[in-house]
Amino acid sequence: MQEINNIIILTGAGISQESGIDTFRSEGGLWEQHKVEDVATPEGFARDPDLVLRFYDMRREAIQKAQPNDAHIALARLEQGLKAQDKSLLIVTQNVDDLHERGGADNVLHMHGQHLTAWCTACDGRPEWRGTLIERPACPLCGEAGHLRPDVVWFGEMPYEMERIYAALSIADLFVSIGTSGAVYPAAGFVREARGQGIKTMELNLEPSQGSHFFDEARYGKASEIVPAWVDEILGN
Ligand code: OAD
Repeated sequence: MQEINNIIILTGAGISQESGIDTFRSEGGLWEQHKVEDVATPEGFARDPDLVLRFYDMRREAIQKAQPNDAHIALARLEQGLKAQDKSLLIVTQNVDDLHERGGADNVLHMHGQHLTAWCTACDGRPEWRGTLIERPACPLCGEAGHLRPDVVWFGEMPYEMERIYAALSIADLFVSIGTSGAVYPAAGFVREARGQGIKTMELNLEPSQGSHFFDEARYGKASEIVPAWVDEILGN
């Protein structure tokens, strides 16, 4: 087997599904109950801010009640195991929950933002936030009221951390995609970027994703089962 020194992992809603958090595109999933353009675009927010703030207030409350599952915990174990061997792991997540961090991982980039910070459009600060935004609280950083919005990247907005992600991809020797449908760019394009650079690619998902043919290898099943098994293999357990 080729020696693996730097791994980059992209995660999506599927890794948090067994923690009780709805995925987006499943039957009865988040987008089925709401129109994407109503709750996940700047235009939807301008049209009906109460609907959008309430939607994210409920999501923020729900993720704080959820617990990391065996897949999140296994990735934290992988991070520690690789670190002990002077190797590296970067987890790039599309998820706005904090289950990777609560599962024990340190090196996590949230490319679609986070529920547990708010974004103040007055001062551009991102204060930690656990409560609700519907009552238009003042920003704890600048004191202005009425300017806090969910710190979540909406359709039509630029995802976060893109420079760091592409820099990490350029030095990786394995790219692994976990629990994502491959429907949303730019994340869905990382596999082709990795392939273009000759990096080995692997998919771990419940079912083949939209870009499944771009992966060198795939394992299908529940994240809580296939992720710990794969981590054991990588760490040579
Ligand atoms: P999706 O809901 O599109 O896809 C979730 C994927 O996880 C699907 O391919 C499922 O088959 C798989 N899955 C479901 N349960 C699983 C399990 N227990 N174990 C393993 N896999 C499982 O979610 P994402 O791909 O994350 O963006 O969606 C990407 C982005 O679309 C989200 O970040 C969000 C949304 O629009 C923004 O909000 C900006």
